[in-house]
Order: sequence, then structure tokens, then C-alpha cells
Amino acid sequence: MRVLSVGGGGREHAAVEALHRSGVEIYAVMKNKNPGIIQRAKAYELIDENDVDRVCDFALRYDVNLAFIGPEAPLEAGLVDALENIGVSCAAPTKAAARIETSKQFMRELVTKHGIAGNLGYAGFGNAEDALSYLETVTGEIVVKPIGLTGGKGVKVWGEHINSLEEAADYVREIFHDNVGGAGVIIEEKAVGEEFTLMVFADGKDIVPMPLVQDHKRAYEGDVGPNTGGMGSYSDADHLLPFVTEEEMLQALSILQAIVDAMAEEGCPYRGPMYGQFMLTADGPRIIEINARFGDPEAMNVLPILEDNFAAILKEMAAGKLRTEIRFADKATVCKYVVPRGYGTAPEPGHGICVDAEAIRGNGAEVFFANVDMEEDMLLTGTSRSVGVVGIADTIEEAERNCEAALKYVTSDAICIRHDIGTKGLIQSRIDNMKRLRR
Ligand code: AMP
Ligand code: GLY
Repeated sequence: MRVLSVGGGGREHAAVEALHRSGVEIYAVMKNKNPGIIQRAKAYELIDENDVDRVCDFALRYDVNLAFIGPEAPLEAGLVDALENIGVSCAAPTKAAARIETSKQFMRELVTKHGIAGNLGYAGFGNAEDALSYLETVTGEIVVKPIGLTGGKGVKVWGEHINSLEEAADYVREIFHDNVGGAGVIIEEKAVGEEFTLMVFADGKDIVPMPLVQDHKRAYEGDVGPNTGGMGSYSDADHLLPFVTEEEMLQALSILQAIVDAMAEEGCPYRGPMYGQFMLTADGPRIIEINARFGDPEAMNVLPILEDNFAAILKEMAAGKLRTEIRFADKATVCKYVVPRGYGTAPEPGHGICVDAEAIRGNGAEVFFANVDMEEDMLLTGTSRSVGVVGIADTIEEAERNCEAALKYVTSDAICIRHDIGTKGLIQSRIDNMKRLRR
């Protein structure tokens, strides 16, 4: 089988390694020259992943049978629809189905219309005046989000990034003035609790879960600072999280199943990996966002411990005939992203970064290249996250130690790492917070 891989980040490198283990031929397109992906690819081309025509040309040239698409932007550009038109089956949603991520308003309306559990109060606006008048009526704590795609960086949360209705109004004006996300603003009720990610494989009708993961969106240690695409993440050997019960995981799973059912009913069946971001509140899981793809970094937690053949699973999703159970090793993982200095506000790209991948692999850790570029033999940082390092072991504690030991082999004078991710102290604070909220 010849598989097209689209995207050049850490998530895509993790997927390419899983495809490589599946024994297929890999053909890759990406913007940046990701050394991990090109090492595994039979052929690759550096192109804009949203340039649908060029990606289709590449797919035709190499006669690929199946496509894996990492990022959300090509889905919004209609890449799946175009690839399917030329006979390439895709383990990813069409443009219409990807609206579950590309329009936060579409997601909230779908969940409301179908009476799905876990919704939050919300109101969406296409112009600043209406949004500003609505703000005058708001009494509780809110979250202000651009409706369209912003790479995880456009959300402002009451009590963290905004502290008054005037500040909320300023941000609403900024979103419309700068056309952030390009599709208006959504104002949501703020959910209070602990966040977790549940990703599933979906074939248009049925879903199969992956292990739970907790991501860390805030840029700085102690969960402060601007929202980012995610600074790192961990998962536990029992595939739950230390503050999430099996019953709560099953509630989240039934929410995702209800969303997949609703999309089929709406005439845009959802095929591919689906990502549910939930806030576990005292009243159970609430939906924060649904993404039309694997999470990044979360893919780096789950794909290295996937025991089944990844390419076969992709093929089954694309064909609408997914198996009923997918096996993952009973291992804990801790992923920390090495990011360029200034990431989250004003990243400084173009600095050299050295990664001794040989020293990392085989010592209870993996390394995945992300937004780096190669200039001759030099590896350079980009404006986004550079390298994901994942510790894998029987316990989170040991996985965290393995991750830290491996991080010694990534050196640069212009990088940042959230060393607190996966540590006992931070995890205990999550457990304590949930205990307090449940009382
Ligand atoms: P998103 O890009 O929608 O995942 O939002 C980024 C981050 O903002 C999330 O991971 C949450 O930490 C936070 N957030 C978004 N929406 C809400 C909400 N309604 N209530 C509380 N926190 C939220
Ligand atoms: N880790 C957050 C995301 O992939 O959207």
C-alpha cells in the first residue's frame, strides 16, 4: 500500500513512524523539511499543504491509495474532497464534516440541535456591534473565542486572560478589527474543572477510543501565560487519567458517539480520527472543543504505544468498516515539547538546534521532529513547536524521568520547555482540584 502523509509537525512524524511500522510505502508533503518524516518517506515534496491542486498532483504522480492528513487547515481547504475525486481514499473528514472543528459555532449548534450532553451556554456573532451588545447582558464568567481556526491560540478565558467585561469587549473589537479566525466570535460559558483529551477513530458510524491524554495549553510552568497549540501531555498505563474515572471516560465517549451519529444524520458522516477536548466539571465532562484530526502533542502519546497496524486502521476508517477494538500497550507516556524561545507571544525562529536522536531512542524515550527546517546539515527552529520528546514506561513517574533524561540530548541556546509537565506535583494538584470540586 502507498500512503500519502500530509503535514510536517510532531503529530505527523509520530503518524509516519506508526505507518512505517505498518510496513507501507510513505509519500509525504509538508511545508518544512522535517528530518524524521523524510527519513521514512520514499518520496517527499516541500509544498504548501493547503495547495489542494499541488497535493493532488503529488498523489497522482506516486499513485497513492490512501491519505493521512495531520493538520486541520488542508481539511478546511477541501483536500479530502479533492483527493476522493481522484480516487484516493482518505482517513480524514471532508470539508463539510471538518466543520466540527473549523467552525466552533457549527459544533455548538449541532450539539444543541441534537440534544447531546456536555454542551455549554454560547452565543455566536458575525459582527462586533451584536457581540458588544450581548456582552452588556452577560453576568457569569465567559470565554471569548474566534469562531474560525487560530491554531489553538485565539481563546481568552475569564480570570486568566480577561478580567472584566471591558477587557472582553476590547478583545471582541480586536477579533473583528484584525479579522482573527476570519469568521466572527463566539462567547461561551466558562467551564470550571480539569481538562482532558479523548481521541477516537471513527468510520462514519462507529468509534473506537484511544487512551485518555492531558495536554497543557498554557505557555509557562504552573499553567500560566497565553494559550498555545499545547506544550506537552501525558497519559497513564490504564488509559484513564489519575483524576478521571472510567465512568467519566465513558460519558465523554458517548458524547463523541452522539456527535458522530448527529453528523451522519446531517448528511456529513465523519470519518477519521476525532479529538474531543473536555473539561471535567463537578457535573461531569463538558465539551470545550472538537477537532477533526489527531491532537498535537497528543498523537505523540498514543501512536508510539499503538499495538495494531496503523495503516490497516486508516484503511478501515476510510472504507467505513472499522474493527471494534484497537489495542494500545499498557504504558504511561510523558511528552514535553521543545519550543522556540518566545513561543506563545513572539517566537524567535532560525536558531540552531541539536538533537541526538540515536541517544534518545531505545532508552525508554522517543523523539519526534516538528516545526524545524534543515539547511544543509543544520537543524533550525521555526516559529512553532520544534521537537517533541516522549518518555514511555510503566508509570507516569518513570515516563517523566525518561523524558527528562532524553531532553538532555536536545540542545540550543534559544529554546523553552515546560519541565513541570507530568511531574508528581502538578498531577497531584489536578487530583486535589477535582476532589475539591466534587465535594
Ligand atoms: P480551545 O482552542 O477551544 O481548546 O481553547 C483553548 C483553551 O482555552 C482550552 O484548552 C481551555 O483551557 C480554554 N477554554 C476554551 N473554552 C473554554 C470554556 N468554555 N471554559 C473554560 N475554558 C475554556
Ligand atoms: N493539543 C491541542 C490540539 O491539538 O488542538
